[in-house]
Amino acid sequence: MGPASLPACLMVLWWGWVFAPPGQAILPPDLSMTQLSQMFQEFMIQFNKTYQSQEERHHRFSVFAQNLEMSRALQASELGTATYGVTKFSDLTEGEFALMLGASPRSSPPPRQKQGRIPRRGPRPHSCDWRKHGAITAVKHQGSWCRSCWAFAAVSNIEALWNIHRHAPRNLSVQEVVDCVRGGDGCKGGYTWDAFLAVMKQGGLMKDKVGPGDDVDDDGNTFYPAYDDGEHACRSKKGAAAAQILDFEILPRDEEEIANVVASHGPVTAIIYWNPLQHYQNGIVKIKECDGTAWPDHAVLIVGYGEENPHRPGAKNYWIIQNSWGTNWGEKGYFRLHRGSNACSIAKFPVTARVT
Ligand SMILES: *[C@@H]1O[C@H](CO)[C@@H](O)[C@H](O)[C@H]1NC(C)=O
Ligand SMILES: *[C@@H]1O[C@H](CO)[C@@H](O)[C@H](O)[C@H]1NC(C)=O
Repeated sequence: MGPASLPACLMVLWWGWVFAPPGQAILPPDLSMTQLSQMFQEFMIQFNKTYQSQEERHHRFSVFAQNLEMSRALQASELGTATYGVTKFSDLTEGEFALMLGASPRSSPPPRQKQGRIPRRGPRPHSCDWRKHGAITAVKHQGSWCRSCWAFAAVSNIEALWNIHRHAPRNLSVQEVVDCVRGGDGCKGGYTWDAFLAVMKQGGLMKDKVGPGDDVDDDGNTFYPAYDDGEHACRSKKGAAAAQILDFEILPRDEEEIANVVASHGPVTAIIYWNPLQHYQNGIVKIKECDGTAWPDHAVLIVGYGEENPHRPGAKNYWIIQNSWGTNWGEKGYFRLHRGSNACSIAKFPVTARVT
């Protein structure tokens, strides 16, 4: 997302106090300066934050305090089970957060023609979690400059499908997508179909160079240079692709149908309105600020779905979603969204690759 959607980010604010820090009860509304200051200290230690100057530190402290108010406002309007409060993004203003982690330039509409078609199979199970089948690769971190969430979501989708349909575990290169899409401006943002179109055009994806060592693996496959939160000229090597896709399908805007495809075929990429996630700690998000009317601009991967105890009031059905903000955010890098109400516009742009 880009500056175009900033106004929507700046709407909700200043409703008063109460928020839930990790593992604690809701704090009283009269949080003292000393308590606030102590929380900021703990935040700095927990997330290894350092600031250049005393002024910068003061500024970040005031942003931190505003963000706690924002969390309190979100908490007050939460209809699911999510808690909001201190996260590793608590020292960023909404504008900074949007510029850092947003994704999608609005100028890129989905391709017109329908691409592949996944056979639908029913009935589906009540719950499904591809993590439990070892199909999902590790949670990644997109960094703080490159707007590459769409490339991470698409590559995780392809990795999962290669696990599920080809029984071939692979770490594939996100950097290759960022570098080789549209003449190499991948850090300006994109949509998941941009990634799939680039992978088809390239004839596949190379392996990701995860750690130091040789440039070639045991099978003679050349690695693509590791992701570095920046964009470069395309460095693909001919014939070095380690995984291909046939095509991809843009699914109907229907959560039932998305769940059917998740259960019978595998994870599905989605693009959501993500603004409340800056303050998300855990639980199932169902919130007015994320009611599906806002423009979705953050790409993620749906890896499963579930049902809560039906006797519990509020949110019951949910999506399990992998994010690309590292494992020290949300539920170990994942979050859950209410299923059945188009929460955060989850049903707007569901897309998956096909590998068989
Ligand atoms: C904390 O940050 C410093 C400097 O930014 C870095 O050198 C160090 O490795 C970091 N430590 C951890 C545990 O992330
Ligand atoms: C993929 O990378 C992870 C580290 O993120 C590593 O543990 C795993 O073994 C790698 N898988 C393959 C198939 O290379």
